[in-house]
Amino acid sequence: MSDHQPVHLQEYQPPAYQVSHTELTFDLDPAATRVSARLDMTRHPEAASDAPLFLHGEYLTLHSLALDGTVLDEGDYRLVEGGLEIARVPERFVLESVVEIAPCENTALEGLYQSSGMYCTQCEAEGFRRITYYPDRPDVMATFKVTVIGDKAKSPVLLANGNPVERGELDGGRHFVTWEDPHPKPSYLFALVAGELYKVEDGFTTQSGRDVTLQIWVEEENLDKTAHAMASLKRAMRWDEETYGREYDLDLFMIVAVNDFNMGAMENKGLNIFNSAAVLTHPHTATDQAFQRVESIVAHEYFHNWSGNRVTCRDWFQLSLKEGFTVFRDQCFSADVNSAPVKRIEDVAFFRTAQFAEDAGPTAHPVRPDHYIEITNFYTLTIYEKGAEVVRMLCNLIGAEAFRRGSDLYFERFDGQAVTIEDFVACMAEVSGADLTQFMRWYAQAGTPEIDAYGEYDYVHGEYRLTLRQRTPATPGQPFKKPLHIPVRLGLVGTKSGQDLRLTLAGESLGTDGVIHLREEEQTFVFTEVAEAPVPSLLRDFSAPVKLHFPYSREELAFLLTHDSDGFNRWDAGQRLAMLALDDLIAAHRNGVEKVMDSRVVEAFRLLLTTPMEDKAVLAEMLTLPSEAYIAEQQPLVDVDAIHAAREFVRQSLALALRDEFLALYEDNQSQEAYAPTPEQIGQRSVKNVALAYLMAIDDDQGLAYCQAQFDANHNMTDVRQALTLLVHSEHNHLAAPALKAFGEKWAHDPLVMDQWFTIQVTRPQSDALERVEHLMQHPAFSLKNPNKVRALIGAFAQNRINFHRLDGKGYALLADVVIELNRLNPDVAARMLTPLTRWQRFDDARQALMRQALERIKAEPLSANVYEVIEKALA
Ligand code: PHE
Ligand code: ZN
Repeated sequence: MSDHQPVHLQEYQPPAYQVSHTELTFDLDPAATRVSARLDMTRHPEAASDAPLFLHGEYLTLHSLALDGTVLDEGDYRLVEGGLEIARVPERFVLESVVEIAPCENTALEGLYQSSGMYCTQCEAEGFRRITYYPDRPDVMATFKVTVIGDKAKSPVLLANGNPVERGELDGGRHFVTWEDPHPKPSYLFALVAGELYKVEDGFTTQSGRDVTLQIWVEEENLDKTAHAMASLKRAMRWDEETYGREYDLDLFMIVAVNDFNMGAMENKGLNIFNSAAVLTHPHTATDQAFQRVESIVAHEYFHNWSGNRVTCRDWFQLSLKEGFTVFRDQCFSADVNSAPVKRIEDVAFFRTAQFAEDAGPTAHPVRPDHYIEITNFYTLTIYEKGAEVVRMLCNLIGAEAFRRGSDLYFERFDGQAVTIEDFVACMAEVSGADLTQFMRWYAQAGTPEIDAYGEYDYVHGEYRLTLRQRTPATPGQPFKKPLHIPVRLGLVGTKSGQDLRLTLAGESLGTDGVIHLREEEQTFVFTEVAEAPVPSLLRDFSAPVKLHFPYSREELAFLLTHDSDGFNRWDAGQRLAMLALDDLIAAHRNGVEKVMDSRVVEAFRLLLTTPMEDKAVLAEMLTLPSEAYIAEQQPLVDVDAIHAAREFVRQSLALALRDEFLALYEDNQSQEAYAPTPEQIGQRSVKNVALAYLMAIDDDQGLAYCQAQFDANHNMTDVRQALTLLVHSEHNHLAAPALKAFGEKWAHDPLVMDQWFTIQVTRPQSDALERVEHLMQHPAFSLKNPNKVRALIGAFAQNRINFHRLDGKGYALLADVVIELNRLNPDVAARMLTPLTRWQRFDDARQALMRQALERIKAEPLSANVYEVIEKALA
């Protein structure tokens, strides 16, 4: 669209006309698909009788339009920007239209498009308007009947939402299938798939005894990569019954894997469509991380059947209503079926890096934004992950038992409706009696709150006084912030006993692990009957999405690292300890002073390496240093080179000092077992591969021999990928080059493995990374039209901090070139790829100038709404 006007939450109006039933017929053809629609429509009881009818429609060629059987002429309706308007319509009527669309030209991957020769759809948020004229908004819900007509040879499989009710042969080698979805749904949940697909089938009996058929549809060569997704689906279905009392509601549940997809997956009713990267796994092609990602995304999309589909969003400002809640649900599921502390550590490590950065940048927005230009830009970490943290706080505030009653009430009360975040929170308030008025600010205020904490132990009275001060920095459009209701979970760990002390606050006992509620700008909490001097363990399990500052000494952190009863905070103490050392080294690097390793960090690591730990995945996390991106997030001004140098120095110092311990850890965790993505095996592989990375950080012959052997053994992709990455990221080019070549040839036929092959090469720290990107963009397996490839090559390179931020500006220029090209092909992906450039304020003057220059060059192009909105904010 040309003028890019914002939409405002305040301007919400209910739709003047509802659709009660929608019938669609697709006559499929790559360049000229005909879509016939028949809509049963009714005026909203409160709408004026002369309210015009507006239908969204974009990139459609209108063939005919009829109202109650009468064909409309061009004088009876108006084609306007973004749709079609009919000035007067009756109270109830049937509207019929025929349009033509061209799936083969659709590179935006919204609406109906082609992927590897098959037809598929993506309608969330506003893609349905590229399929037919329709009130394309989530508060219009209808039952659907859909007939798909296609070529028998090219599209033997024809799928849509719901249940198949009729199929038959047609002339000219064509056939059709008719599908009915009895559950009223908004247009964004519509889906259609057609092509040469093969299925794996299984079954599930619900808790009430209904049999559900489960199908995963893939290209033939991927039939052996579906077992894990199917097992994950069944686990998720059982979990939602047991944990939320939610049962599946159709006789058939389908998942389809497609190669070209903008996001991870989509929860279309009864017909989930997945990015192949989010569903296909095989021990030889997918890493442990990929297995776990598939499990969580399969669960996420399945959980949407209730949190999103049965109860949906009134408008797109409420997006976090379904996404925040559903991410929270999938996080709890993954925690239940895997190592819970590791799940939390991984989620928080990612959150504190990427979401905090978003909240601190020019595109910062509240969990419920109040305006947007392009809603596709708002499928963000804030909506998803911060939204999930807010729901988690709600659950912890009112308790798991009340939270379950609240969710039961929410699903019952609003079943079949399109509702708001207030509706959800009101259910939680109603069942618990809690006052959540102040809590609602979490949805309205952008920015990461910071808490400055200070504690004092009074020996004489046996009191511990904890003072907490909160402030939320200004964000674009929100200069002043109000205090939030922040639940701080904490313990006081006795320095003598090493145990959690009993918490008594204002005469009330909180046990040994309690929650205090910070509501004012500043509050002091006085804990009485504190028998010994404690070290406070604050914000346990990351009880609120905030930055917490406490003046811990290194000794106190080392103490928490070994004594804290909260697994998450033990890990966090290690991260804080490492950060203090890193800060010193960053300063030393900047000042040209010799770097000296803090022996306390070495001793803390030695202790970790020599104390048996049951959960090896936790150990692997504890042995992992904060990432460069996380370290950068902690600095007032990002010094790319100093951060890299400091982190490398710590890695090498640890490896040199603890070489034998890492070697032993590696050797002790070798396993000959057949691959299985179990938490135990994954934990074992994680520590082993962390140890190998340390050994490869120094020039250790034994480490190198193990690395090469691990690559050659070819046991599973987790081990192979780690070995290949370490070789390629080392200076041993004579070993790396043949390994890369062999790997690339072996997997040339598998796009998901080739994505990994791209990523491994462009993330190497050596200074030729950018030249490798340029070279690989010419590789036959690369394509700018495929979002996975763009992410694997360009996106991954932009995470290669020292090389993306090269001082000659070539990294930025390359990204700008790609964004300009993508802006024409796929605006959604273009806007997402732009993210690293929007963070220019965080860097030194030279880099700032270069980054802005790249942004200005993009700005000079004719821009899609997606890229326009991001560029405007970035340069504001
Ligand atoms: N709703 C999808 C999910 O969260 C994400 C998505 C959004 C996919 C928009 C495609 C387009 O699972
Ligand atoms: Zn979702």
